[in-house]
Amino acid sequence: MHIETYDQLSEQVATLVAQQIATEPDCCLGLPTGQTPIGTYKLLSTWSREGRLNWSKVRCFALDDYLDVPPALSFHTFLSEHLYQHTNIDAGNIFHPGMTDNYDALIEGQGGLAMTVLGIGGNGHIAFNEPGTQFLSWTHCTWLDDSTRKANQASFGASRPPQKAVTMGVKTILSSRRIVLMASGEKKKAIVEAAFRGPVSRQVPASYLQEHEGLEVLTDFGFSLTR
Ligand code: PGA
Repeated sequence: MHIETYDQLSEQVATLVAQQIATEPDCCLGLPTGQTPIGTYKLLSTWSREGRLNWSKVRCFALDDYLDVPPALSFHTFLSEHLYQHTNIDAGNIFHPGMTDNYDALIEGQGGLAMTVLGIGGNGHIAFNEPGTQFLSWTHCTWLDDSTRKANQASFGASRPPQKAVTMGVKTILSSRRIVLMASGEKKKAIVEAAFRGPVSRQVPASYLQEHEGLEVLTDFGFSLTR
């Protein structure tokens, strides 16, 4: 499918997730938060309400979350509102990194991530692996970049976004059998090109994904990559 619009991008990513669930009904999914996946979640929610998608055995793992925020502002709540509550997912199959000291062991114990969907930050972050993050990083707490806090300001009204977060690490993400990175809008073009056409560098954490055999990058600005 040739992608030119945000709606087409959303449909393509939603289709990949739906196919993954159809092929492996008890798969583990890594799921992002942010503006970019909202259209994808809308479609997945609609298909689920129509009974076309069965989440009863699917396990979902949030990529990351803020620390020290009211529950309403957490990514866990975001995922519940945009996706989980519209599906038949079992509450016991919903996981987030704040719930345990060893998220990586939890993921591994559930069979490992079959597919992880990612956005990309304007600074090249994936999940909250900010510039400077080591390749050999598993789930960890981190300080958020000023640029990330600025980009996410809109959800916080008059108050400032938190400084700290917990995130799957680079190795956690790379351990996923398939990775689908989605990016929308011209504002993401330069960083996507730097990440996938430039050198692998810890200053652009998304560039670490170049090493992954099951990577797909989908955008609505003419860049795509499939392994
Ligand atoms: P966005 O965030 O989808 O809101 O642009 C992406 C990210 O920071 O990973």
